Amino acid sequence: MREKLVAGNWKMHGSLSENKALLDAIIPQLADLSRASCAVCVPFPYLFQAQAALQSGNISLGAQNMSQHEKGAFTGEVSASMLLDFGCKYVIVGHSERRALYGEDDATVAAKFVAAQKAGLTPILCVGETLEEREANITEQVVARQLDAVLAVAGVAGLAKSIVAYEPVWAIGTGKTASPEQAQAVHAFIRGKISAASAEIAAGLVIQYGGSVKAANAAQLFSMPDIDGGLIGGAALSADEFVAICRAAQQG
Ligand code: 13P
Repeated sequence: MREKLVAGNWKMHGSLSENKALLDAIIPQLADLSRASCAVCVPFPYLFQAQAALQSGNISLGAQNMSQHEKGAFTGEVSASMLLDFGCKYVIVGHSERRALYGEDDATVAAKFVAAQKAGLTPILCVGETLEEREANITEQVVARQLDAVLAVAGVAGLAKSIVAYEPVWAIGTGKTASPEQAQAVHAFIRGKISAASAEIAAGLVIQYGGSVKAANAAQLFSMPDIDGGLIGGAALSADEFVAICRAAQQG
């Protein structure tokens, strides 16, 4: 059986004092999880703080982005090896905000995916359609294109050491969650597509759902057969919400 993974994506939120309060609240409450894993993906400046805090407990650390380059004259960028220096296990690549606001195209995302794996990080690859694309009935085409870009450079074997997060753009930060059935349909499509290349890798692939997951809807989403946890934005900033979502993954 696949383990569920709940990862909080703090996005550009937090401060030293707010982070301390949040981490102090969640770490002890999640110490006994056994059937689900949890992670927090924090802004770069707070990696050191989070790494130190997470020494106790069993929550993993992740980052929200990285450079596709190993090192060099790339002002303002952060490399995979730097993230490893701070104890990161995961790195989000291709979040829709990076794609939409920072011009990351499929090829760039794929290059980041490969660079992350090469360094020893587990990439959390985000895919998902906009509202316009959903209304035009091209959700599967869009998700397939985003996956194909990664498959072309990493091969299906690359997906064996990664997490995929289905995040419909219209559900992110809008309070509009995909229904469990809507999300399940796309998750099943993703697993089916990978299965065409390797049934074994598809069966083991953790596919998270992201988009307005809250304590109130997490259990229902996580009960779907192809939804293996979540990538949580807004609700990850509340200790009570995040802990309840991780608990829902533990039950589901
Ligand atoms: P929300 O949970 O705030 O909708 O954000 C989802 C997301 O983008 C996580 O990466």
